This record gives sequence, structure tokens and C-alpha cells, in this order.
Amino acid sequence: MAAQSVVEAAERLQRIANALSEGNVNLEALYEEALAVIEPISEEEHLLEELEGKQLEVVKRVFLFRKGALNQLFRFISLLPDDLKRRVGAAINRTKSLFETLLKKEEEEEPIKFDVTVPGRSPEVGRRHIITRTIEEICNVMRQLGFSYTEGPEVEDEYHNFVALNIPEHHLARDEKANFYITDTLLLRSQTSPVQIRYMESHKPPIRVFAPGRVYRPDTVDASHYYAFHQVEGLWVDEGISFAHLKTTLLLFSRLMVGEDVKVRLRPSFFPFTEPSAEIDFSCFVCGGKGCPTCGKKGWLEIGGCGMVNPNVLRYCRIDPERYTGFAFGIGIDRIVMALYGINDIRLLFQNDIRFLEQF
Ligand code: DAH
Repeated sequence: MAAQSVVEAAERLQRIANALSEGNVNLEALYEEALAVIEPISEEEHLLEELEGKQLEVVKRVFLFRKGALNQLFRFISLLPDDLKRRVGAAINRTKSLFETLLKKEEEEEPIKFDVTVPGRSPEVGRRHIITRTIEEICNVMRQLGFSYTEGPEVEDEYHNFVALNIPEHHLARDEKANFYITDTLLLRSQTSPVQIRYMESHKPPIRVFAPGRVYRPDTVDASHYYAFHQVEGLWVDEGISFAHLKTTLLLFSRLMVGEDVKVRLRPSFFPFTEPSAEIDFSCFVCGGKGCPTCGKKGWLEIGGCGMVNPNVLRYCRIDPERYTGFAFGIGIDRIVMALYGINDIRLLFQNDIRFLEQF
């Protein structure tokens, strides 16, 4: 029996089963017809070999499925005369086991399909966030410069976040609208500078530490502002520390972080916790200082603030300002990440969208 006729047989048997289930038929005639279909199906070994895809599915459904047409023929078998009943029963059972064996053989002989030209699928590899990676880079650089890692709590008290940093009671920075207050005296730290205080409270000079971490301010969110961001604080207190130490440290930091060509510019400024104070600019490392959208055509990126530790701050920490001097700086990490990776919207750093992050 040819492959094509097996398919035809399946289709005919399906029609017979449909007619049976619709009822109102001449049972004997219908079963004779069924016998005429299944009896000629012989035990040819290669009956199913030429069938594929849809055809094979049809044949399987009709001859093998529990609710397939062949099995449905059992339903009214008891209503048939004995002789016909016996013939039909035998034919159905023979056909069933025939297809079972054929199909099994078919599956066993199925060649393993292995196409060596199909490109391999490489496993998905996770990666650290670009902010984490930049913080790790900062840690390496600061350690190379002789600074040790330290950290402080993100929930701070007013004393460490403001008072001991010489920020007076009615200073704008202490306004309740400028901070995430949790209670009257506790807030999410608005800067990493309180880590300076905590470290100086528990250590005597020489002190040479850095403290990276997350800080919080209720800024209106836009392409360059977010309510959380990252800073790294630097602090060096010892006898004879001068502004020259500060400048050299910042210059070396910028070169190790960004590259040999970067320039550092300090602009006079004011912070309550330093005197004198300065703003830190790096020459824009996206355009090399020519002016581009990242630096707002200025050629310089505002990176942070710095200065010589205010004697009042040292006094709060019981360090003698007559004997010791020091410098401190606070640098914005997110700005550096954005310039290093060419990102123009700070929100992208916090949305944790894998499709964005996996580019880096
Ligand atoms: N804490 C300042 C801010 O968040 C940055 C800063 C300025 C830190 C000067 C310092 C410093 O340590 O000396 O704006």
C-alpha cells in the first residue's frame, strides 16, 4: 500500500467515524465500509516512511489517538451481528497494533538532525551596572593614591549631615523642602560629607580616606536631575596638608579616571565646611574641551566641590586645627559615568532597563 493511500484511508475512516457519531445511519453498511478501508492496510514496513508533517499528523490522529476515528469505531460494535462484530473487532485491533509498531520504528530510525553550520547560542552573561563599575574604578584609583575606603549610613542625623559640617541652622541646604527628612532630626543624607565627620570622630590624624555612596535630594526629575545620585568624598588630614596636595590629588585622580589629556580647573566658591573652597571642573572628556552637548558647549564639566577643611569642622571632631590641616572634596559620580559612557539622560542610569544596560 502506498503512502498516499494510507492518508486517503485515514481521511475515509474519519468521515465514517463522523457519520457514526451523527447517528441516523445504516450501521451495518457503515461498518462494512470501514472494513473495506482498514482490511487492505497491510503490514508493509515502510508504510509511514514517506509521510511527513501534516500527513503524518492526520494518520496518527485517525489510527492512534485515544479519541481517534479508529477507536471510535468500537462505540457501536455491540449493536452489530456476531459475525460482523468479530471481523470488525479483529480488524481494528490488528490495524491499531500495526500502526503502533510502525510509528515506534519510525521514531527510532529518525536520524539525529544536527546542523553544524547553525550558529551556536551563547549563554546570557550578567554584568555589573555601569555605576557600580565606575565606583569600583574610583576605589582602585583612590587606593592607588594612598586613600583607604570608608563608608557611612544613608540615613543620617542632622548633626552629621549639617551641624558638624558647619552648616548653620537656617542655611538653605537644611530646608525641609531641600531634603528627605524622615523625622525631625533624621534624613536621607544629602551628601557624602557626613562620612568625613564620622571618620574624624573615631580616628586621629593622619587621616586619608575616601567614601563613595548614594545621596538623596528631592530634586525635580529631568534629564540631568534625579532624587538619588552618587558622590565620592575624599579627606586627607595631617600636619602640613596644603592646597597643593589637594590640587595634585585631583589632577592625578582625573588622569587615572579619564586619561592623560584631561585638565582640571578650580573655581573659587563657598562651602561652609571648607575654607577656602572651590568648584572642580574637568575639561570635557566627550569633546576634548571643544564644546559639545554634554558640556553645554562650555568645554568643561562641573564635577564637584573641594577646599581646605574648615577649622570649625576639625574642632567639632576634636582635632586640633592649630596642629592639623586637611583638604576635602566631593565629586559627583553620575556625571562621570554619563560622560564616560556617552549617556545624555541621568534617568537611564536608574531605570534598570536591561535593553539599555546590556549595551555597556
Ligand atoms: N558636599 C558638597 C555637595 O554635595 C560637595 C563638597 C564640596 C564636598 C566641598 C566636599 C567639599 O568635601 O570640600 O555639594
